[in-house]
Amino acid sequence: MNILITGANRGIGLGFVRHYLSKGDSVWACYRSDPGKLGDIHARHLYTVKWDIATDDGPLGELPDSIDILINNAGIYGPEKDGQSLENITTRAMHEVFNVDCTGPLRVVQRLKSRVVASKGVIANISSKMGSSADNTSGGTYAYRAAKAGLVIVSKSMAVDLAPFGVHVITLHPGWVQTDMTHQTGLVDVETSVAGLTQVIANAQSYAAGEFIAFDGRVVPY
Ligand SMILES: NC(=O)c1ccc[n+]([C@@H]2O[C@H](COP(=O)([O-])OP(=O)(O)OC[C@H]3O[C@@H](n4cnc5c(N)ncnc54)[C@H](OP(=O)(O)O)[C@@H]3O)[C@@H](O)[C@H]2O)c1
Repeated sequence: MNILITGANRGIGLGFVRHYLSKGDSVWACYRSDPGKLGDIHARHLYTVKWDIATDDGPLGELPDSIDILINNAGIYGPEKDGQSLENITTRAMHEVFNVDCTGPLRVVQRLKSRVVASKGVIANISSKMGSSADNTSGGTYAYRAAKAGLVIVSKSMAVDLAPFGVHVITLHPGWVQTDMTHQTGLVDVETSVAGLTQVIANAQSYAAGEFIAFDGRVVPY
């Protein structure tokens, strides 16, 4: 299968790369500016593509004619600590995080739609439970919550719009994962999260179009 992953140079994205390469798939691993640990992987079927999803510029690198699985993984958290409190959140931070976490995956799908349609593939958009209103009991984190909630909605529209083309779109929550984003805190390691997420992706057809699903297979109310 042909797999394309954004934000693939570290964290969960790099975990996806390692997983699919180990299964013998061909992987197009996209990175924003620094390929990082992708440079240490020597695999015949690994292709690296420079792609900053915060811009309207297209990817720099060869892309496959058909994509079986597109994983919109790239994302940012935005300001940390009190930076996303009601008192401190700024217009600029709201826009920056929304641009990457919500508009970014939309741009990627606009670019790659015909290639995913070619293989009647699956699109997995990585959101977060932080974007679930049903799960929000602690407030705050305005930019990240809003952008990830926006992505759930965008993903649902994509799911409806692409269903007639045979493309199945789902939204995923990876768990609280030990990556740079969480300063290596979190309840699960990258391998456990990716093992669960890839299982959900493999069974995507058993979930409704646009469903929001956690790495353990449970549906997330939003
Ligand atoms: N870790 C968690 O507990 C957790 C929980 C829920 C959801 N998520 C989501 O899971 C996804 C992966 O998170 P992670 O924990 O692996 O985070 P991470 O370690 O911080 O990695 C984020 C990745 O996104 C890339 N990225 C950021 N901005 C980009 C841009 N403009 N264009 C292209 N790539 C960009 C980064 O590239 P650079 O190296 O160039 O910055 C990096 O590869 C994110 O969408 C995140 O919101 C994570």
